[in-house]
Amino acid sequence: MSGADGADVDLTDPVLASEAELAFEGALRPRSLAEFVGQTRVRGQLQLLLTAATLQQRTPDHILLAGPPGLGKTTLAMIVAHESGRPLRMSSGPAIQHAGDLAAILSSLVPGEVLFIDEIHRMARSAEEMLYLAMEDFRIDIMVGKGAGATSVPLDLSPFTLVGATTRAGLLPNPLRDRFGFTAHLEFYDDAELEQVLARAATMLGLDVDREALVEISGRCRGTPRIANRLLRRVRDYALVHTGRADLATVNAALDLYDVDALGLDRLDRAVMQIILTRFGGGPVGLNTLAVSVGEESETIEAVVEPFLVRIGLITRTPRGRVATPAAWRHFGLSQGGAALPIDDL
Ligand SMILES: Nc1ncnc2c1ncn2[C@@H]1O[C@H](COP(=O)(O)OP(=O)(O)O)[C@@H](O)[C@H]1O
Ligand SMILES: [Mg+2]
Repeated sequence: MSGADGADVDLTDPVLASEAELAFEGALRPRSLAEFVGQTRVRGQLQLLLTAATLQQRTPDHILLAGPPGLGKTTLAMIVAHESGRPLRMSSGPAIQHAGDLAAILSSLVPGEVLFIDEIHRMARSAEEMLYLAMEDFRIDIMVGKGAGATSVPLDLSPFTLVGATTRAGLLPNPLRDRFGFTAHLEFYDDAELEQVLARAATMLGLDVDREALVEISGRCRGTPRIANRLLRRVRDYALVHTGRADLATVNAALDLYDVDALGLDRLDRAVMQIILTRFGGGPVGLNTLAVSVGEESETIEAVVEPFLVRIGLITRTPRGRVATPAAWRHFGLSQGGAALPIDDL
């Protein structure tokens, strides 16, 4: 296995996406629930919620979308606005650092508007408190003046629907979580669903891809539509430059070039696994130790890397840390012999 140098930009990393990648992503976004692949349960739930609100001529309940990056949270927020024929305002937790930032947004919403707050768990605490009241009563209290002379002035808001997205639902304070009428937990996509995502994207790109090539990509995209689309783009590039066609051999060559292995593990996934297996003899390893060892934020490890590694059965979470499974040793061609293993398996 190559690619331990860490020098290249990892093209599967959402954080490092270029402008072109983002434009590409936007162009491929499904615009309606019917076009949205997979997540059958969540789709049914959202459909019911939107239809009921339309029948009663009221704003739909507030919606929380939770799940790892790239599974369709932003897309669903746009669909909610589109399907209910309402305007959409987009903001994000990191952009709301003071209650005043939120007050400015809330007080300028038009009646019925959908307000999307991405990464809502990163909003300032003071803004969170303002949001409770806004969600419940469509009202906020604005502080005027400072110190002993400060007074709070109530301000009525237009009714709106908040759609919050988070990769870390567990970090939201309970009062905030409780004020969402519906929480959708997005799951990783299975191979058949990813094939549909890829087939749709290939059609939109005007790319002729063999079925076996699609199957191969779908097995290597971490259960994630965003990565599926990105890998497809790399395959298209490779076909354009080298082979002239998007067949299985092209897929294998392109994905090897970008260091995406047979299970879809990328450089960061592999770095994490290598640390657990070789430096810590299989674990258990604490989250922070792991994050420091690979030079990443522990939030990234917990929200992006770990859910997938757990899902494909390479690690398990225990109260004392992350532990590699026998499948992990096999995948990396290592033997457990000689390595220090946890004595009491939790
Ligand atoms: N269910 C889906 N069907 C088709 N494409 C999808 C689906 N979910 C996500 N995508 C694609 O994946 C990309 C990332 O989705 P996005 O909504 O931005 O994810 P998130 O906000 O959860 O990180 C989008 O470009 C979109 O085209
Ligand atoms: Mg998003």
